[in-house]
Amino acid sequence: MKQSFILLAILFCLSCSETNIDPEAVLSKLPKIEREISFESDIRALNEQYCISCHSGTTPDAGLLLTNYNEFLISSRRGSDNRNSIFRIRNRTMPPSSSPALSNEEIQLFLKWEEDGFLEN
Ligand code: HEC
Repeated sequence: MKQSFILLAILFCLSCSETNIDPEAVLSKLPKIEREISFESDIRALNEQYCISCHSGTTPDAGLLLTNYNEFLISSRRGSDNRNSIFRIRNRTMPPSSSPALSNEEIQLFLKWEEDGFLEN
């Protein structure tokens, strides 16, 4: 009886920790990135892997081109809302759920890029 109670308690705790993951808390617990992040060092490759398929060409989604540093910079600097790339990456609504998601470590790179002042090189 006692054993099955302990087992239930353990299962209960496990299920809590899996469903109550706060994405912001996960990010804040990652080890800090010590080096500077630039577009060329990290962001260009992530952009090519996760964004460019929809945000390029003659009819980009949302009319938004993200094919080079300047375009990505503009979309990262405008308002702290849904039109802002860093905002959409942080709240995990870009890339859309139909596409492969960024890992927490990759999201952290975009946030550090913003923190460092959107360096190009
Ligand atoms: C599978 C296609 C797809 C991928 C991949 C994708 N997007 Fe989008 N994006 C869309 C669509 C569709 C919209 C319009 C609907 C919306 O705002 O949710 C959009 C809208 C946006 C907007 C808002 C633009 C505006 O002016 O309202 C931003 C910013 C954005 N995307 C950034 C990104 C970034 C950054 C990435 C990569 C990390 C990315 N997207 C990857 C399809 C995509």
